[in-house]
Amino acid sequence: MVVLEPMTEAEFERSVEEGIRRFAKEAVRRGYLREDSALATSRAEFAELLPQGRGTAGRVFAVVRESSGGRRVGETWYRLFSKGGKAHVWVDWIAIDPEFRRRGFGSEVLELIGREGARTGAEELGLNVFADNPEAVAFYQKLGFRVTSQHLARPIDPTRRPA
Ligand SMILES: CC(C)(COP(=O)(O)OP(=O)(O)OC[C@H]1O[C@@H](n2cnc3c(N)ncnc32)[C@H](O)[C@@H]1OP(=O)(O)O)[C@@H](O)C(=O)NCCC(=O)NCCS
Repeated sequence: MVVLEPMTEAEFERSVEEGIRRFAKEAVRRGYLREDSALATSRAEFAELLPQGRGTAGRVFAVVRESSGGRRVGETWYRLFSKGGKAHVWVDWIAIDPEFRRRGFGSEVLELIGREGARTGAEELGLNVFADNPEAVAFYQKLGFRVTSQHLARPIDPTRRPA
């Protein structure tokens, strides 16, 4: 059993720093950012995304703890907001620390977030996942998530001419 506990400022700062580095590394690997400027770009994007840091409206930054003993087992970032007259809940990030994976903690976290969303009137839980993260894809599929939109990309061949 787990509980979601709001991050302290120190926990939040560490989590953001890790997020900035992870995003930069992934963006370089995917060919979206250049290596020499990726970290600065990632830092700027996070600053824009979280103008009031931990206090940015509608966002929740939580540490996942075992209910018995209080050990940290992971973390999550999610949003509760209203748009188009409807309540929404969106998971920006969920991670269970490697030594605690495959024990049902990740499933419980999404269950708790879903229930919190339901209390605000949300009818579904949304999130993005990269197709090249098969562990996460398997996890979401197991929990009943289905594809509702797809981001497509293909390399551009400059020598290709329209038919
Ligand atoms: C994805 C993640 C959050 C799952 O957390 P978890 O606590 O290990 O997940 P659970 O134990 O609740 O798994 C529930 C089910 O999901 C599926 N699943 C979870 N991890 C899986 C894996 N690595 N490979 C295949 N299936 C997996 C299984 O069906 C599992 O049930 P089972 O263990 O009885 O077979 C965790 O692997 C993680 O933190 N990954 C790194 C960060 C990340 O990629 N986050 C997602 C960003 S979109």
